[in-house]
Amino acid sequence: MEQISRREFTKRTAAAGLAAALSSTRILGANDRIRVGFIGVGNRGDQVLDGFLAQKDADVVAVCDLWQPYLDFASKKIGTSPQQFKDYRKLLDMKDLDAVAVCTPDHWHALQMIHACQAGKDVYVEKPLALRVAEGRRMVEAAHKYKRVTQVGLMRRSGPKLKEAAEFLRGGGIGKITAIRSFDIQNEWPNGLGNPPNGEPPDGLDWEAWLGPAPKVPYNINRTFYRFRWFYDYSGGQITNFGTHYLDFSHWLLGHDAPLSVTAIGGKYAVEDNREIPDTAEVIWAYPGNTLITFAQINANGAPPAPRDCNMEIRGTKGTYYMNWNGYEVVPDPVSGMDFPALSPLDRAANDWRKSHKAVIEPRKIEEDDATPQHARNFLDCVRSRETCNCDIETGHRSTVATLIADIALKTQMHLQWDSEAERFTNSEVANRHLNYHYRLPYKLPEV
Ligand SMILES: NC(=O)c1ccc[n+]([C@@H]2O[C@H](COP(=O)([O-])OP(=O)(O)OC[C@H]3O[C@@H](n4cnc5c(N)ncnc54)[C@H](O)[C@@H]3O)[C@@H](O)[C@H]2O)c1
Repeated sequence: MEQISRREFTKRTAAAGLAAALSSTRILGANDRIRVGFIGVGNRGDQVLDGFLAQKDADVVAVCDLWQPYLDFASKKIGTSPQQFKDYRKLLDMKDLDAVAVCTPDHWHALQMIHACQAGKDVYVEKPLALRVAEGRRMVEAAHKYKRVTQVGLMRRSGPKLKEAAEFLRGGGIGKITAIRSFDIQNEWPNGLGNPPNGEPPDGLDWEAWLGPAPKVPYNINRTFYRFRWFYDYSGGQITNFGTHYLDFSHWLLGHDAPLSVTAIGGKYAVEDNREIPDTAEVIWAYPGNTLITFAQINANGAPPAPRDCNMEIRGTKGTYYMNWNGYEVVPDPVSGMDFPALSPLDRAANDWRKSHKAVIEPRKIEEDDATPQHARNFLDCVRSRETCNCDIETGHRSTVATLIADIALKTQMHLQWDSEAERFTNSEVANRHLNYHYRLPYKLPEV
């Protein structure tokens, strides 16, 4: 078991090019088992691990985390004494490893994913893909350059019923979709995460390694396990955490993968803890084809959005699609046309026509289980076939970008115009400066 030192990181990163040149991709025979390593086995890593352990043709042979109790928990669950690491580059040095799953906090995704590509591993990487747009683009380039199979952890893409739903919606199932509203609603008032003081990290936690490329700050428990998502150095907050799922589903059903513009407003209005991200925010994206998408973050009140408890509300001219985590309900809209003041026979006729006009689509209701195991299955199938996964790196990047630029709109309080080809804003150089950030030395976003 090893700790990582910054000096060691520089030395080993300098050797990464050589390692990449030496690494070879194992050619998998039909009967070969796929050997997988996990980087990050906390909350999500544990769920994704379950998804991989459910597959009959793969073995999880190595686990890496900075926190020994999580390593031990994962090893016990796997049951076949996987190799344990604290330095992910040692795990990547394993020549007989075919693939890795990266389930660390967002600020580590780019480095670990690109290094994995350079080491000849296929990569399953959690969403949001990256902390900044430029990192995500570099990850796409790395996957292409090193010919890696990639899957981004937007697992709904592998849910068969949600696939059917996306096709139904894209095919005009609820008419023309003009508005999609999505939500993160929970009451965290008044204390939220609390206000713990800075202090010393617990024994065995390498705080320096946890920070990695992020700015050096004193240890605070709220910046670590799970809670990091309320701090901008490691996460885009709930807009990227939940928003990436919603924007990804929106992209899928609209057939568009980038907004034309975005604006956002919000702040810490009620919750009194040491989080950085707002407890209250509203984002609006404009999409090609005249669809507005919104994301509402309401963390000081927990009442579900009326009229149904849902995460997404997709409004078409013929009906509404209410989506929960895995299920959905389509509710036909019976109203067609306007209700006129019935002053003339012409208006009365128009009203009569409207009243006689019933819903033109059928209601439907579907529940689906969490699709993480199917997402892992799809990844492993593609590792064998070298085909493109259901949520490959470019797809995951574009869904992540929509939310990363929303955070920039929130920080700059602007209505930003987005050029999705150039991946730059066309009306603000200030906003463009947020597309990348300087890694803390000696960390460096790898050239590919
Ligand atoms: N797809 C989904 O529905 C879903 C759900 C939850 C979380 N996520 C994503 O999963 C990622 C992890 O979130 P989480 O909730 O599991 O956080 P977590 O804090 O519970 O787990 C992260 C783990 O990574 C480890 N880690 C940190 N730096 C490391 C490094 N350099 N090397 C090795 N291990 C390191 C930590 O010790 C921790 O155990 C985030 O990107 C999050 O957005 C996705």
